[in-house]
Amino acid sequence: MTRLSVKTAGGVYDVISERGGLQNISKIWELDRKVMIVTDDGVPSQYAEMAASRCKSSFTLTLPQGEATKSVKSLLLLWERMAEEKMTRTDAVMAVGGGVVGDLAGFAAATYMRGIDFYNVPTTVLSQVDSSVGGKTAVDFAGYKNIVGAFWQPRGVMLDSSLLETLPERQISNGLSEAVKMAATLDGELFRFIEENGARENLEEVIVRAVGIKKRVVEADEREAGLRKVLNFGHTVAHALESRLAFDTMYHGECVAVGMMCMCSGDTRRRLGAVLDRLSLPTVLPCGAGELTEAVFHDKKASGGDITVVTCPSVGSYEMKNIPIGDFEKFLS
Ligand code: GLY
Repeated sequence: MTRLSVKTAGGVYDVISERGGLQNISKIWELDRKVMIVTDDGVPSQYAEMAASRCKSSFTLTLPQGEATKSVKSLLLLWERMAEEKMTRTDAVMAVGGGVVGDLAGFAAATYMRGIDFYNVPTTVLSQVDSSVGGKTAVDFAGYKNIVGAFWQPRGVMLDSSLLETLPERQISNGLSEAVKMAATLDGELFRFIEENGARENLEEVIVRAVGIKKRVVEADEREAGLRKVLNFGHTVAHALESRLAFDTMYHGECVAVGMMCMCSGDTRRRLGAVLDRLSLPTVLPCGAGELTEAVFHDKKASGGDITVVTCPSVGSYEMKNIPIGDFEKFLS
């Protein structure tokens, strides 16, 4: 069992990595109250059932799997159920699922009665590595990803590696892309470990070490005023690909993989490409630079003005540059 304590102004909480840990959540979390469990129909139902069996009084909402669920419509559904069930400020929400479920349930917890406790049991590599830690919650709206949301730190996160056993290989690589991102920019030693030993072959260790990186970043910059932007390495391109070009065909981590390749060159690019190849992640843009720039422009329209691009000049380092959106194509070339 590994315990990482995350300390931010918005809350102090433990991220526990424990094989089979879902069975033990009532020993570490306050579940002696009403708990709304949120899951989706792509998650094996026994995970939410196990979570429910550990609560004194709970009800479960099972939503359709997929990004479309991260919507205001789903949010209304959650708020309605919470009100119908007469949940109070001392009750809690628990997500049992991937990033969609975590972001949505986290936002419902952040907003219901101005904020109630939130627990997260991420069931994908992507959500274990990245989205379950750091308190970003949101829904998509008006064609933009994550445009309505809040920072709301969980009360606890359980990383149970046994829940990953049912995932297809593509989903595992999808999540490991985010671990590679953190290693490439912030931890050259982890990157070398991945090069030498493989990320897939050392899944639990890589997840825990990546979450350790994320913890340090989030503690230093909870609200993404500076350092946390480094976690957006590969994401300017990824979000554009997702929102405009390949929302349903490419997974998030796959878009990030391509996006990272666009943001480095020379030996760094060669090393990154080799690591991504080994994970069967894509490394080549599925569209031309012009089309991509247009997609970035659309994606960033809501933020206006300049965008911050993160590059990786050498493994274990990063640079952030503010450039006008209009210069993005020139920057890429
Ligand atoms: N996924 C990026 C962040 O949590 O800041």
